[in-house]
Amino acid sequence: MTASAIPGLAPQAAAAVAQLKPAHFELERIIRPNILSLAPYRCARDDYQSGILLDANENSLGHSLPGASQASGSGSNGAGAGAASLTASPAAAAAIDALGLNRYPDPSLFGVKPTLARLRGLPSEDHVMLGVGSDEVLDLLQRITCRPGQDKIMICPPTYGMYSVCAAVNDVQVVKVPLKTAGGDFGLDVPQILKTLASTPDIRLLFLCSPGNPTGTLLPLDAVREILEFPDWSGLVVVDEAYIDFAEEELRLGKRAEQPSATSLLSEYKNVVVTQTLSKAFGLAAIRLGICYGSPALIQIINNTKAPYNISVPTAHLASLALSPEGLDLMRSNVRLLMENRDELIAGLKQLQCTGEILGANDANFVLVQVLDKARADGGRPSGERAEMCYKRMAEERGLVVRNRSKELGCAGCLRITVGTKEENAKCLELMAELLG
Ligand SMILES: Cc1ncc(COP(=O)(O)O)c(C=O)c1O
Repeated sequence: MTASAIPGLAPQAAAAVAQLKPAHFELERIIRPNILSLAPYRCARDDYQSGILLDANENSLGHSLPGASQASGSGSNGAGAGAASLTASPAAAAAIDALGLNRYPDPSLFGVKPTLARLRGLPSEDHVMLGVGSDEVLDLLQRITCRPGQDKIMICPPTYGMYSVCAAVNDVQVVKVPLKTAGGDFGLDVPQILKTLASTPDIRLLFLCSPGNPTGTLLPLDAVREILEFPDWSGLVVVDEAYIDFAEEELRLGKRAEQPSATSLLSEYKNVVVTQTLSKAFGLAAIRLGICYGSPALIQIINNTKAPYNISVPTAHLASLALSPEGLDLMRSNVRLLMENRDELIAGLKQLQCTGEILGANDANFVLVQVLDKARADGGRPSGERAEMCYKRMAEERGLVVRNRSKELGCAGCLRITVGTKEENAKCLELMAELLG
């Protein structure tokens, strides 16, 4: 099957993808045959969106949210008087009604996809797929490429845990090439990655996390490029950029010279795919909106595979507000404040006697810090036991929860602390000083 034969893919889009590098990569060879032949889900609503809608077995009476009025045309559901009110005010009730919650989501999703394409400098929404968080996208990427019980993915630990969880769910083996952990650098070991890719059959995907979790280190695009160009492996590179907006803001502020996001590689390469999310810099973890940027051919295949209507109307509506000019301004000013708070948190951690190195590059909204067995001045060494003690006592006795990462490769004795408000950070520093002495 050629790209033009991917069901739902426009011939011009297929032709454009064919022009991209590298010549040794053929998408159809890494997609499972049963997936490649899937046609996009179609329903009557794709052709007719208005009128009396009796096509999709929705509820013609409207939604059943207590306390919200019913928008004209939705009919009354009889709920209301006496029912506990979910809505704070008539304005909120009207806003809920305006969403038309009794209907399946309109495929246009309030224009979220074209807005995201513009935001990342991509030519059209054909390069964008939306998922229920980027976790759904990370799983779908494995499902469309890896044959259960046969194929493999590669990861570079320490890294985000969901790549391996999805692999276990999909019965996919995991090959590991660690990041360079010496000195807490956490850069990619490109020679070892290439050697392993060339010598291990059936690796379909390489997951790179940039900035890394828990490392906070942004990966240089030159290293990604080297892997994309490598002729002895013909799989797909997935760059997970959940935290990219922190580095993007530094670029905008002139604090960083190089383009941080691998979305800039999509105009050149067809063997790269980038995942992002509204859960971090946008502060919208609750709405579960993840994004996949890739070639139109790959995006079409993922769209053919995902469940219909995976993105809810409230999610799409809130995402469209977040992506409006005012929303982007707010996101960026929050990112700047978090970066300032991050610097203060790092400075505070360095003042403590009981902490060692801050590992990684701090390119995201968290800090990875070593807990020592005794004071730094007395030659303290990273201690997993003390990190665990500090983690548990902070959570159980003082109600402040961080993450113990001390069992992760290269992270001995490390806590990962999400950058909080100034007050939260001050509290965290105070408790660490108290509990660690
Ligand atoms: C590196 C990385 N990727 C993906 C995710 C998942 O993000 P989402 O909320 O979009 O599913 C996380 C969440 O912590 C993460 O750290």
